[in-house]
Amino acid sequence: MLFPVRRPRRLRVDSRLRNMVKEFSVEPRQLIYPLFVSETITEPDEISSMPGQMHWPINQIDEPINNAMSKGVKAFLLFGIPATKDIHGESGCGEDSVVCKAIKHIKEKCPNAYIITDVCLCEYTSHGHCGFINNEGEVENDISCKQLAKMALSHVKAGADMVAPSDMMDGRIAAIRKILDDNGFINTPIMSYSVKYASSFYGPFREAADSAPGKGDRKGYQMDFANSRDASIELELDYEEGADILMVKPGLPYLDILKQASENYNCPIATYHVSGEYSMIKAAAEKGWIDEKKIVLESLTAMRRAGADLIITYYAPQAAEWLMEK
Ligand code: PBG
Repeated sequence: MLFPVRRPRRLRVDSRLRNMVKEFSVEPRQLIYPLFVSETITEPDEISSMPGQMHWPINQIDEPINNAMSKGVKAFLLFGIPATKDIHGESGCGEDSVVCKAIKHIKEKCPNAYIITDVCLCEYTSHGHCGFINNEGEVENDISCKQLAKMALSHVKAGADMVAPSDMMDGRIAAIRKILDDNGFINTPIMSYSVKYASSFYGPFREAADSAPGKGDRKGYQMDFANSRDASIELELDYEEGADILMVKPGLPYLDILKQASENYNCPIATYHVSGEYSMIKAAAEKGWIDEKKIVLESLTAMRRAGADLIITYYAPQAAEWLMEK
């Protein structure tokens, strides 16, 4: 080469130009804030494995929502912690479940909040699995789909704007779409946890949702992290069954899968920056080993670069605040 090509550097040296030409950014409107609402407490209670995140009593759940909305966060993902559990997760499927009560409270106090509900049995089953279990300890797929559809319908009847099935049963998107349509909720979208890996990054969440399986693990229904081809099958099935938004989970360790999803589907793609990712950043930041704000904004931007339109993150209100400061 006769002369050095300086083009990329000339685009970097001046911070004003750098900012003008950057390809990806994160905005508060793209963030979804997960919240844990509990039927058994009367005061907010910090989740010890997730510093800064709380279990909220139903009648105070508007507090974190209003706070996040004042920073530009518009959407919330609700998880319920019920007073009772049984083998079929009935306490999560009735019209007076903890999530249904929370939705009604939110719709009264913050009518503009966009409410998404997590649809899964593991928070409500005594064995902690995401579906029904037979005597051999195996998940009973089809009957579980019926129960999940019942749960989804109860959430939508209570006022949920969107449902997000996270159980990974086969055929649950079709079952949920059908029950919603049959009941007249043709415009209620489904965000599917389509590509959900059996991941140790969910560790802190299982304490938060009290949902660790008593026996066995979730490898029979969640994906093996040693595979990427399965992801295309899961995405295709959910898309064909009627999912409106496809999600890849966890986030940062699975950017290749996120990219694959965003390149192949013409619908919005979401990713979940999960509890383990959150708690690892918190722990390292507490020790002073990393810069929390910079690491979080870098992580979220990396997810946007890999193709995420929406990011579910426990950092939502904090990140929105940092983004406003910039
Ligand atoms: C329920 C569910 C889980 C998460 C979201 N929905 C746990 C799991 O599948 O084991 C994980 C979220 C997180 O780790 O932040 N099935």
